[in-house]
Amino acid sequence: MTDKDIQDAPQDDSSQNTAGEPVGADRLPRTIWWEDDSVRLIDQSRLPLVGDILQCDTHEGVCWAIKGMAVRGAPALGVAAALGVAVWAQNEAGEIEEMQQFLDEMGKVVEAITQTRPTAVNLFWGAERMLVLAYDNRDLSLSELRALIVQEAKNMVAEDEARNRALGLHGAELLEPGSKILTHCNAGSLATAFFGTALGVIFSAHEQGKIEHVWVDETRPVMQGARLTAWELMMAGVPCALITDNMSASIMRGGGVDAIVVGADRIAANGDTANKIGTYGLAVLAKQHNIPFYIAAPTSTVDLTIGSGDEIPIEERDHDEVTGVTWSAVLEAPSAEETRVFDALTKESAHEFGFGRGHKLQVSRKGGSFQFDGWARIAPVNVPVFNPAFDVTPAEFITAIITERGVIRPDASGSYEFPLGAICMGSGGLHELGQTT
Ligand code: MRU
Repeated sequence: MTDKDIQDAPQDDSSQNTAGEPVGADRLPRTIWWEDDSVRLIDQSRLPLVGDILQCDTHEGVCWAIKGMAVRGAPALGVAAALGVAVWAQNEAGEIEEMQQFLDEMGKVVEAITQTRPTAVNLFWGAERMLVLAYDNRDLSLSELRALIVQEAKNMVAEDEARNRALGLHGAELLEPGSKILTHCNAGSLATAFFGTALGVIFSAHEQGKIEHVWVDETRPVMQGARLTAWELMMAGVPCALITDNMSASIMRGGGVDAIVVGADRIAANGDTANKIGTYGLAVLAKQHNIPFYIAAPTSTVDLTIGSGDEIPIEERDHDEVTGVTWSAVLEAPSAEETRVFDALTKESAHEFGFGRGHKLQVSRKGGSFQFDGWARIAPVNVPVFNPAFDVTPAEFITAIITERGVIRPDASGSYEFPLGAICMGSGGLHELGQTT
């Protein structure tokens, strides 16, 4: 695993101003891509304080990046899973000479990737789509199959962006000029290969001149709103303000929100939707204040193998996320004195300072600079903690689900019916429904 700086990330150049410079969302770097037989991704775990690009040459590297939330967000996880299988096929499976052994080993890689996080169904969808491809093409030679797998993963990166752009345009049609939108967590370009889902709707509507303002929930405990959504909106030039999670109710009551648009990690067959913890509360508040509540997600997020949200596995995460806050910084141009001190400390490896009460601070070398990664405890030592990362919003609270295939509204009973043709795979195995596009 090596890293480069975020400035080196490729940009999309579909939207340009008259001077040929990218505008709006096209000013953002890509999130995850294939380059020189490896997976490259923006390390989101420290954004926006430190912007690195990670290079993963093995599927274990991709698993590590997913577990550490260097890559996160449901559609990005789907793409990461596919690229993880591809990097295995390209770099780790070259010695395998027999097709059945290749397929068996690939099954284990898919298993390892899908064990990393439980809630976002796209992770299973991305990895299992590669497995289906391999089984469907087991008549090819191994080298042909390996090349096909890499090509399919690259296609999935491009398809993800195309889906999000389509979804964004469908969603923008729902918004009126002068809209004040509230969003939660990060369902932006960083949560996808590029462009975003909920933020894709906002970017498209902003391009059409419809967005007055976006309220950004900070999204405790991992702060995806404060760290990632605020960063994306500012980069794209969308007017926004950051709020803490407990401010939204009063802003809604004051008439400051015209619509809420959020992403999804898994949508059950009846429309119940798992998304970042806190989403359900927003949906209840939206109903109380007569504010439309929209879910924006590609059909790869729909899991028709489960009937309701009760069956969605909810990830529980590390207690440190709740009991403390993290920070990172790079000392870009250290003085001679600082270089002498930190050089000495980091000569062998990264240096960990030993604070009491569990505070952590690590200094490591980064070229001619030094990087600091800290965690500061804010809660009493040994306090019991509960840290579910997602909640489920029942379908009855959702005004509409915006997909790349159009806007889906509930029937009279408040339930959703998804058009066949979506590929929907649950975590329990492969389930292919209808066509596979
Ligand atoms: O824990 P994360 O950061 O992976 O959670 C992400 C979310 O909950 C997003 O809102 C969701 O994946 C939608 S992403 C387009």
